[in-house]
Amino acid sequence: MNENGKICGQPETFAFSDEYLDRVDAVVARYPDDRRASALMPLLSLAQEQNAGWLPKAAMDHVADMLDIPHIRAYEVATFYTMYNLEPMGRHHVQVCTNISCWLRGSDEVLDACRKFLGVGVGRTTEDGAFTLTEVECLGACVNAPVVQIGKDYFEDLDGESVVRILEAFKAGETPKPGPQNGRKGCEPSSGLTSLTFDDAGEAVQKDAGGA
Ligand code: FES
Repeated sequence: MNENGKICGQPETFAFSDEYLDRVDAVVARYPDDRRASALMPLLSLAQEQNAGWLPKAAMDHVADMLDIPHIRAYEVATFYTMYNLEPMGRHHVQVCTNISCWLRGSDEVLDACRKFLGVGVGRTTEDGAFTLTEVECLGACVNAPVVQIGKDYFEDLDGESVVRILEAFKAGETPKPGPQNGRKGCEPSSGLTSLTFDDAGEAVQKDAGGA
C-alpha cells in the first residue's frame, strides 16, 4: 500500500485490446443473453492473459461491468480460484504440483530443485522478473506425475535433473519441448506396452482370450 491507501503496482484502468475484444465477444456469444454472467471465469482468464499473467482490480471491475454484475462477484471468483494471479508475475510461471500422485512420484525433489535453481521460495519471483515459483494442487495429469506447468505447457515424468534442464532452457530464451521427460510416449505405461503391441513384421500381436 502507498500513503494514499492504494495497492502498489495496481493500474488505474484496464481495457481489452481489439484483439482480445474479438475473443471476449466469441466467449460471451456462447451464453444466452440472460446468462452472460456465466462468461465471468473465461473473461477473467483473458484479462489476465492480456495483462502479463496477473489480474489487477481494474481488470476485475472492467469484466464485471461488461457482464453487468456487481464488482464483488468478480472479486469472489478471482480470490477463490488459484489460477487467477492477483499480483505481478514473472515472465515464466512455474507451477509445481505437489498433490498426492506427484508427491508419491517425487514432487518434493522437483520442488526442491526448482527452489535451489531459481534461488527463491514458493510464491516468490526471481529478482530479474523471469520466474515466479508456486506450488499447486492436482494439475489433472497424474498419470505422468510428477508434473510442472510452465506458462500453458505441461512438463511431465520429471525428476530434479530434468526440471533443472527445463528451467535452464527457459533462462537461455529457448522453448523446451513439453510432455514426458523420461522418454515415454504420451501416457503409455512407463514399463512399456502390455497390449496393442506389434511383432517385428509390424503385425498386431493377438493375445488369447484366456490371457495365455
Ligand atoms: Fe499432480 Fe495430479 S497429483 S497432476
